[in-house]
Amino acid sequence: MKRTIRDLKNIEGKRILLRCDFNVPLDNYGDILDDSRIVAALPTISYLLEKGAKLVVCSHLGRPTGYDKYLSLFPVAVYLMKRFPNRVKFCNKVVGQEAEKAVSILKNGEILVLENLRFDEGEEQNSPEFVSKLAKLADVYVDDAFGVAHRKHASNYGIALKLPSAIGFLIEKELSVFDKAFSNPAHPFVAIFGGAKVSDKLNLIDNVMDKADSIIIGGGMAYTFLKAQGHEIGDSILSADQIENAKRILQTAKEKNVKILLPIDHVALIKNKDRAVCVTELQKGMAGLDIGNKTIKMFSSEIANSKQIIWNGPLGKYEDPRFKKGTMKIAKAVAKSEAYSVVGGGDSVSAINSCGVAKNINHLSTGGGASLKLMEGKVLPAIEVIDTL
Ligand code: 3PG
Repeated sequence: MKRTIRDLKNIEGKRILLRCDFNVPLDNYGDILDDSRIVAALPTISYLLEKGAKLVVCSHLGRPTGYDKYLSLFPVAVYLMKRFPNRVKFCNKVVGQEAEKAVSILKNGEILVLENLRFDEGEEQNSPEFVSKLAKLADVYVDDAFGVAHRKHASNYGIALKLPSAIGFLIEKELSVFDKAFSNPAHPFVAIFGGAKVSDKLNLIDNVMDKADSIIIGGGMAYTFLKAQGHEIGDSILSADQIENAKRILQTAKEKNVKILLPIDHVALIKNKDRAVCVTELQKGMAGLDIGNKTIKMFSSEIANSKQIIWNGPLGKYEDPRFKKGTMKIAKAVAKSEAYSVVGGGDSVSAINSCGVAKNINHLSTGGGASLKLMEGKVLPAIEVIDTL
């Protein structure tokens, strides 16, 4: 069992390096457009502050190559200043003398937010020098950055080998939700997968095959499965190198009595007219970019009859308003169902949020790539390396 912050004794006065995933969307004015990742980390922050720790909070933001003023963590520090008045300071350096000095004058129950970890190239390289500099800032390391736990970086991997470590409440909850959903699922268990590429979801489908009762497949990847069944897919996206895998999955599902549901109608783009039409049969010159009404009805009825749902990936080209209906309708169907629901992946989570139904979902994961790895049954390196009890 991984050590959690509940297991940390005598925290008062200790310098704790808390790794969060504050990779949040910002507008051009530095305003935070979606604070859900910060909100999800608040229980850990509050707990450690109440225990009198000196909190050194760090995170990455975006994918900078060197310093980028638009990717500063200052807006996140300001957000925390509002939540914890008079207790939050910001250091415009990631590590080094200035950061060390700022930590040395921290009082118990105060927070120092460091600048974006990825401004230092040592972070993503997991460089031993950068790990040592980070380690100088703390006595204990706490990881609550679930969204980046599939990466092996200095601030979430190297550092855990250097300092006593524990996980925070956010990671503890993410792990327990995925563990329960996969080791002890409620039946009927429906898995919904979307997204463009079959290859991105192969491991996921294989892992779910032994657990789910039905698998709904939408998005661009559905067309490779339809092709494998012998359907005409017109000019829809096709992963030709995955047709054999798609056939294998369809065959295995048959043998294991797992129902695979694929689109039966489409919202397609007529390419030379740039016009969207609803069709049952795709033809040359047409690209299916969303599920049609009959499919929405069929998928929604499967969802309504389920007791557990996991969902990863949009059901169509969600970023184009002409092709977002399917994803939005499925978001509403998942929210309406009484099933235990777990949603992971940026687009699916954002569909749930933009429909305003987040409160009806049991668990909205804060991780995209990380939740995908967990659903594949893989071990997350940044969690693997945390001390055990
Ligand atoms: C995410 O947004 O998925 C995480 O913060 C990880 O970000 P990354 O893909 O840039 O490592």
